[in-house]
Amino acid sequence: MNIFIHEKTKTFHLQNDLISYIMTVLPDGSLGQLYFGKRIHDKEDFSYLLEGCIRSHSALLEDNGEGISLEHVKQEYPVYGSSDFREGALEILQDNGSRLPGFVYESCEVTAGKPKLQGLPATYTESDEEAATLRITMKDPVNGLVLQLLYTVFAKGGVIARSAEISNEGNAAVSLTKAMSLCVDLPDADYDWIQLSGSWARERYPMQHRLHQGIQAVESLRGHSSHQHNPFLILKRPSADEFQGEVLGFSLLYSGNFLAQAQVDTYDVTRVLMGIHPGWFQWKLEPGEHFQTPEAVIVYSENGLNGMSQTFHKLFQTRLARGIWKEQPRPILINNWEATYFDFNEEKILAIAEKARECGVELFVLDDGWFGSRRSDNAGLGDWVPAPELLPNGISGLSEKVTETGMKFGLWFEPEMVNPDSDLFRAHPDWALGIPERRASLSRHQRVLDFSRREVVDCIHEMIAKILRESKISYIKWDMNRSITECYSQALPADRQGEVFHRYILGVYDLYERLIQEFPEVLFESCAGGGGRFDAGLLYYAPQAWTSDDTDAVERIKIQYGTSYAYPISSMGSHVSAVPNHQVNRSTPLKTRADVAYFGTFGYELDLNKLTAEEQEEVKAYTQFMKDHRSLLQFGTFYRLQSPFEGNEAAWMVVNEDRSEAIAAGYRILSRPNGPFTRLKLAGLDPEKLYEVEGVGRYYGDELMNLGIITSDATSCKTGENIRPAGDFVSELYLLKEVL
Ligand code: DGJ
Repeated sequence: MNIFIHEKTKTFHLQNDLISYIMTVLPDGSLGQLYFGKRIHDKEDFSYLLEGCIRSHSALLEDNGEGISLEHVKQEYPVYGSSDFREGALEILQDNGSRLPGFVYESCEVTAGKPKLQGLPATYTESDEEAATLRITMKDPVNGLVLQLLYTVFAKGGVIARSAEISNEGNAAVSLTKAMSLCVDLPDADYDWIQLSGSWARERYPMQHRLHQGIQAVESLRGHSSHQHNPFLILKRPSADEFQGEVLGFSLLYSGNFLAQAQVDTYDVTRVLMGIHPGWFQWKLEPGEHFQTPEAVIVYSENGLNGMSQTFHKLFQTRLARGIWKEQPRPILINNWEATYFDFNEEKILAIAEKARECGVELFVLDDGWFGSRRSDNAGLGDWVPAPELLPNGISGLSEKVTETGMKFGLWFEPEMVNPDSDLFRAHPDWALGIPERRASLSRHQRVLDFSRREVVDCIHEMIAKILRESKISYIKWDMNRSITECYSQALPADRQGEVFHRYILGVYDLYERLIQEFPEVLFESCAGGGGRFDAGLLYYAPQAWTSDDTDAVERIKIQYGTSYAYPISSMGSHVSAVPNHQVNRSTPLKTRADVAYFGTFGYELDLNKLTAEEQEEVKAYTQFMKDHRSLLQFGTFYRLQSPFEGNEAAWMVVNEDRSEAIAAGYRILSRPNGPFTRLKLAGLDPEKLYEVEGVGRYYGDELMNLGIITSDATSCKTGENIRPAGDFVSELYLLKEVL
């Protein structure tokens, strides 16, 4: 990895063995973009790439016949309105009412490693050799503002991390009305756009269309990254597929309102912008203050979509997630939510935990309903004190009893919320976000606490930390069950109300940080009514997230498949639940439910006492299987093989580092009569190695990848032992081991 600085041409080249990212200072002092893609040689001068031709009807910066029009050059951090009419990355309301800053290149600095972003999630290095960072400083001579653009290139992987910081070194206050984390101007528009979108219980479906002139965008204005759209974007060459071709991935490490868009101009230049959503954002900078944008990460892959995903997975697992759990196989848990909902007491909980322990489960998680007056979702949120009528021995007593049996104990919180019917709200009605004298919308009978206020975060922190200090808790599920409406803080002045959404998220990050600092051994799982805040920002605090409230195996194939475009298997909470399924009323075989849940953190979400003795034996076997293979399943290299969005079959697999072991899974959704013969082509194996495919036979890696495994079954009229029977919702696992 290298960062070349060419003083004479003012050209900057970030390079590693896979990628190059090249910029230059433009004639007006702003920063121009020259190239991002596969590694190329370094050179002093790449100015031929500027193509600053003068087109009719353009506005020119200098009227001398040679001046450039910013509309026709590729830029790094552009401003709308100064000869560029495309959407910009930065907008600043100044005291004369103008919104146009004019930053001019001042200096640059290269440092080893990667600096932290205060109060925000960010990728990191563990030693200075792992990355190098270029800091470009720009100044606005008119208002004294300073802009610093940060670029990190990692030694390994086609990854560039970016963020921007704006400081007010002038004499007058200004307000940022837009400050994006990245802008990339690509020289053509020959891309397919893929976004991850959906809704509650069907999160992160990949949606694809050809990039077209004009703006295409995904966003959230819900106060959290949302079930609807994910802060993640793919641009792939139309000919690229899962295994080959050029793909760019963009991920925003942020959990609040976001915008990710591509604007293709009528010259087929593509501008990608990503960052905090400028809608409802306004941040006042008094002299001496600064603002740091969240980080965005760009990945370049020439090995198709799987190559891009694998780069994100590795980065997020090893240099975004932190703490003791980041690369550790995750405990197999049982959660009582779908087993009991609010209808439980200590006795019932202990019975569920005991049966789970017998089946080999390692962690019991007590979900919603254990505190205050929370006997339904109408009341009690905010009162984080155990309810004695349910838990006579409190959380400390219950956690003691569970841990005595050899299991670990975990607990659910929803720290950011309050029911109007709660002691907390009665004592502090102004602690909920809302506009005085106006109606406050409720969602799930709850209001959102004003986490932009330090005293609110302090109070919630104290309640949670007290329980953690008093009890034996190894895991926390941090839930968040509504979007933010009437976003207004009673603690901020009128001209700072545009800060509330972002300050709220900073408050969430602050509470996470305080808890993980004090309780470094606790495993955090984030959740937002399922996958409503499954984003890279939260992975910095919680290495796993509840992927969706939808626990149906068939639905989960789609949700986990879609999620895998950006996020690693180790981050996806996945449970075996009861049938008929509580969300879709579908009954799938227990084996299929397990075969889907293996590709995640794995756990159970039902009362195992209600299963037959035979099913309980099956559960023991599935639990043991997960224990035997979870390192490979959660941390192996993951390949999508067959998309559930394209047909009746779906498949994926994981391969270990030296390609000596692999597990593939194939799922058939509906049975069909007299169907075609089928094969499943594997990926990522060593073509030279001979593999034993358990129960199937011995094959070379090249056979398995080029011919595939025969997967024809009873629906293809095959009969005999070990042949998958006809029937809906069936699955098959293939265990591969190198023959030595
Ligand atoms: C929503 C979560 O996604 C569920 O798993 C469960 O924890 C409920 N909230 C509890 O209210």
